[in-house]
Amino acid sequence: MEDGQQHPRRRKRERHTDRVSGRAERGYAIVALENPTDGFNVGHTLRAAMCFDTRMVVIARPETSIDMGNLPTDPGRAWRHTPVLTVDKALDSIPYDCTSVAVELTDDAEDLVEFQHPERACYIFGPENGSISKETLDRCDHVVKIPVHLSLNLAATVNVVLYDRMLKLRRPDIRPGGNNPRTTRDRDSE
Ligand SMILES: C[S@@+](CC[C@H](N)C(=O)[O-])C[C@H]1O[C@@H](n2cnc3c(N)ncnc32)[C@H](O)[C@@H]1O
Repeated sequence: MEDGQQHPRRRKRERHTDRVSGRAERGYAIVALENPTDGFNVGHTLRAAMCFDTRMVVIARPETSIDMGNLPTDPGRAWRHTPVLTVDKALDSIPYDCTSVAVELTDDAEDLVEFQHPERACYIFGPENGSISKETLDRCDHVVKIPVHLSLNLAATVNVVLYDRMLKLRRPDIRPGGNNPRTTRDRDSE
């Protein structure tokens, strides 16, 4: 694509209505677990997904022994409210125009503290006893780390990332996707 040209996806079309969505914020978060082995962590992830209003949870090749419907760490049965999709590869479940964010403690990963979350993001997390596969790391749009001295527990990592996104939603300067004109704060100040 030549300089100055807009990506076809971004080309503005004339709108046929003046109505705007009533949603407070634009965008969404999806959580994907790559090869999780412990139902304890899957349950905590489902619980976090519901608490932080995550739109979907993707489980890439779960252990068959994980009984998703009956996890003690998911007492609210989050799967009744948040779609849970089981797939072979996490990256196959990225929706249209959604940014993939691998969450992994690598040397060259971006620091979560400074990270501006994408408006539409799929956060991918690795297995308890390993790391996100190289193929996934290479293909993700971003790799982000929580700057700590040792790796965190998988479910703890999910909670920290979703909390960080929620926190930054309330900060206009670092809001997911940048300047989102539809937040409550903007509507109130109009
Ligand atoms: C328990 S960790 C895996 C063990 C880890 N690879 C190790 O060297 O001990 C499980 C997953 O949690 C995520 N994770 C844990 N700590 C992290 C951190 N500080 N920053 C980013 N991701 C982290 C990654 O997705 C990781 O694959």
